[in-house]
Amino acid sequence: MVGAAALIHSVCFAQSLPEVAPEFVFTVQAEGQNAVVRALTRAATCPAVSWDGQASRSMDVRAVAATPALRGDSAQKDSKQAVFDVLTCEARWPNGARRGRVAGQDVPAPHAQIKRIVLIGDTGCRMKASENAFQACNDSVKWPFAQVAQSAAALQPDLVIHVGDIHYRESPCPAGNAGCANSPWGYGFDAWQADLFEPAKPLLAAAPWVFVRGNHESCSRAGQGWFRFIDTQRWHEERSCNDPAFDNQADYSAPYAVPLTVDTELIVFDSSRTQGKPMTFKDVSYGKYLQQMKQVAQLTQLKPENFFMSHHPLLAVAPVKDMNRFKPGGNEGLQSVFSALYPERLFPSGVSVAMHGHVHLFEAISFKSAHPLSLVLGNSGSAIEGLVPEVLAPGVTLYPGAEVDDYAARSEYGFATLDRVDTKLGTDWKLTEYSIHGVPLIECVISRGKSRCSKLATLPK
Ligand SMILES: [Fe+2]
Repeated sequence: MVGAAALIHSVCFAQSLPEVAPEFVFTVQAEGQNAVVRALTRAATCPAVSWDGQASRSMDVRAVAATPALRGDSAQKDSKQAVFDVLTCEARWPNGARRGRVAGQDVPAPHAQIKRIVLIGDTGCRMKASENAFQACNDSVKWPFAQVAQSAAALQPDLVIHVGDIHYRESPCPAGNAGCANSPWGYGFDAWQADLFEPAKPLLAAAPWVFVRGNHESCSRAGQGWFRFIDTQRWHEERSCNDPAFDNQADYSAPYAVPLTVDTELIVFDSSRTQGKPMTFKDVSYGKYLQQMKQVAQLTQLKPENFFMSHHPLLAVAPVKDMNRFKPGGNEGLQSVFSALYPERLFPSGVSVAMHGHVHLFEAISFKSAHPLSLVLGNSGSAIEGLVPEVLAPGVTLYPGAEVDDYAARSEYGFATLDRVDTKLGTDWKLTEYSIHGVPLIECVISRGKSRCSKLATLPK
């Protein structure tokens, strides 16, 4: 496959290409200053890209259209081969280039100075037979991701972070269910198009995206699409999720850092294969994550402040389904690994903020102890799974020693922004939580891993 891709690249030159507009074009922010433009096209060849008005050339082939063999390990009773009937093309953003165009259209350019970040997570429309859970994908109120993307794009971010769980349409919509009737399902491009590329179009056009991998993008679920469309490294058969024999590589992408400011960087961690119970050294994931957390510790040496991002939270408040009660919502699998290295605060000392999704709500939790500020950003489209309290009683702990100091939460759909605030001492941030229509509802001042949040408005029920 790699050889075929190289061959196709070698014969693709812009001058010989028809100008067929690709279906979707977006920019993925990768490690360091690297960014990559991706184009998905039904044409036989990749579109042309040009940088700063210079002569155009063909984008490279990342993954050819294909229908890989059925993996056979789907957790859902209905399964089918994933059809990827688009050519995935890519072009690395050249150092110093300020403007890129694909097939004559501007593409989102990386910003050297990040001032505003949009934060979204858990966005797809849930269709899951094993839980008899079928969200009304055809209803823009009951599945509001398109509205979220439109409202977030209007805020003109410099960067978008998706904290994982993009693809949710795993099972066919039951006969007679008008809410999801005619929805595509399974792990092929049609479901990715419906869950991400179509509804997110305005936000994909607004800025480069950092993608964090969720459990929905693990190899036994939507991992094949993750590697074709989203992953930051070059596509390779052994990192494609096509063959379960290679899952022990493909399910554990190495952590990487993305600089935000002179003193702050993001660290992206792939927790897609963690489990809800504590792990031991006998678990493959335990050894992998232990090693990767040592890499994270090294990455934290690059900048004084580090925002750690994993889809699964370690410190969170989770709803008890359909009731206004809560339980600690940290992932016990990750806790068991991280606590082995960092028993006091779970994270290396350079991590001041931890950002996550997985729990379908918004939370900003600041601790009296040394634990980093914990943000949960999983309320951007997929079905809300219950309510959490707006206020916590004093003395609540979410993990041994992690006593909550300041707490803000929303159980309804929305999204958030992080705005950079330069001070004499360094960089602070303003976190704002919005309704799906972009009404600011909660504001938090973040400084050195602590937050203070205040309510701005209440929407009518
Ligand atoms: Fe999740």
